[in-house]
Amino acid sequence: MPNLKNYYITTPIYYVNDSPHIGHAYTSLACDVLARFKRLDGYQVHFLTGTDEHGQKIEKAAEKNEKDPQDFVDEVSLRFRKLSKIMNFSNDDFIRTTEPRHKKVVAQLWQKLIDSGDIYLGKYSGWYSVRDEAFYAESELVDGKAPTGADVEWVEEDSYFFKLSRWQDKLLEYYEEHPEFIAPHSRRNEVISFVKGGLEDLSVSRTSFSWGIPVPQNEKHVIYVWLDALTNYISAVCKDDDLSTFKEIGFWPADLHVVGKDILRVHAVYWPAFLMAAELPLPKRVFAHGWWTNEGQKISKSLGNTIDPVKLVEDFGVDYVRYFLMREVPFGNDGNYSQPSFINRINAELANNIGNLSQRTLALIYKNCEGKIPQAGPLQAADKALLSGVAALLDRISLHMEIQAIHLALGEIVELASKANEYIDTMAPWQLAKTDKERMATVLYVLAEVIRILGAALQPFTPELAAKLLAQLNIDGAYNFSQANIAGALKAGTQIPEPKPVMMRLG
Ligand code: MSP
Repeated sequence: MPNLKNYYITTPIYYVNDSPHIGHAYTSLACDVLARFKRLDGYQVHFLTGTDEHGQKIEKAAEKNEKDPQDFVDEVSLRFRKLSKIMNFSNDDFIRTTEPRHKKVVAQLWQKLIDSGDIYLGKYSGWYSVRDEAFYAESELVDGKAPTGADVEWVEEDSYFFKLSRWQDKLLEYYEEHPEFIAPHSRRNEVISFVKGGLEDLSVSRTSFSWGIPVPQNEKHVIYVWLDALTNYISAVCKDDDLSTFKEIGFWPADLHVVGKDILRVHAVYWPAFLMAAELPLPKRVFAHGWWTNEGQKISKSLGNTIDPVKLVEDFGVDYVRYFLMREVPFGNDGNYSQPSFINRINAELANNIGNLSQRTLALIYKNCEGKIPQAGPLQAADKALLSGVAALLDRISLHMEIQAIHLALGEIVELASKANEYIDTMAPWQLAKTDKERMATVLYVLAEVIRILGAALQPFTPELAAKLLAQLNIDGAYNFSQANIAGALKAGTQIPEPKPVMMRLG
């Protein structure tokens, strides 16, 4: 029986034609934050990422670099693995489509589609974009280019086709019965109207190059790179290279595929259709996020304005980059990167708000309470109000995270910190130190509880800063939500280390 507390989340697998940039880091970061959140919330999480290494685009990139394709993909794939370390991603696996475990499962899925009568041999003639690895109808072209702006070429070749048209009604029924399957809502509507517009059979093999997984029945053909790539989500959670073992492992169907808006259609139309045809369970949800621009401009190699996540981390530290990317833009919308907005966001919300709150509170405790968490006395209304915010925080965040409203989850954290800053200003415990030590102790205890819950809540987003914040209260190691959600978990008398600022201002 699959474990009810399993949670399986995936990133798209990245093309290895070039080095990773901010867009790649963004998709994986969102998954990392969601994965860490679920782990702390008691789930057995499987977080998968990896690289998409076959197809014409990769073959051409290898040629351009005068490298053997396998050597080339080995080299570039490694850069994505390194990015995972640099960004502190907690993925449980990293799959590469050139691995035998994947290739064997793709061949098995192909066979299932043959057996079900969903694949037939024909001839494709039409437009193809190597950059997008996509077929386009004449009617879709804009000024002779793909709707994405990519170049297209005319292709005429023997091809196997998948009977996508056969699945149109079933897909529409599925969207209807599972309104949560495609998110955000506006994107769901786009997908539905695309499918209602009519689906044509899809070419799923190519013969004009060889860098791919051969069609088992006919080695002149390689399997279309998208059918190959999508299968990674299931091949990674099988054992012994055997598709039928996914049930034993218990992670498939995935709980969430996070993808960019550019590849939603493939995930919300083709992928479920392949799975339905193969009689395999469908993923529970596909969430499409937006795109980043740089200082207002589309990010592209030709404009020379790609943002290197490694450089950002070198300049600002990993957790500031993680915080900014997750907080600045409502997850699902497009967003713009600019250095001033980065600096403002970090200074306003981390350094001046959360950082300042903890430094002020802990310095007062250190100085006035012999470095020990003080004992609270009778609680007043304002204390109770703030403590109820502490008690509610993780549940409120959880509601946002359930629907991938990551920016709103962070908003809850910021709001509680702001309230605590108002409280400290009103209560002025530095005055109470002179006039009413007992009351001061209560106020500082309440504030220490706020810092504790802020530290707990920040763990998925800014793991290192959260650990530092918690260490200031003598809480070490992973602090899961069931431990953190106990009111008054902070015991009076706990010795704390000498406080040091953990969130420095930028610029
Ligand atoms: N290989 C396919 C996915 C196969 S999944 C079975 C692919 N790879 S990709 O490397 O081109 O893109 C991977 C992800 O990066 C996509 O989700 C895409 O939306 C995201 N981004 C690429 N540029 C981006 C921005 N400028 N901003 C945000 N994300 C963007 O597609």
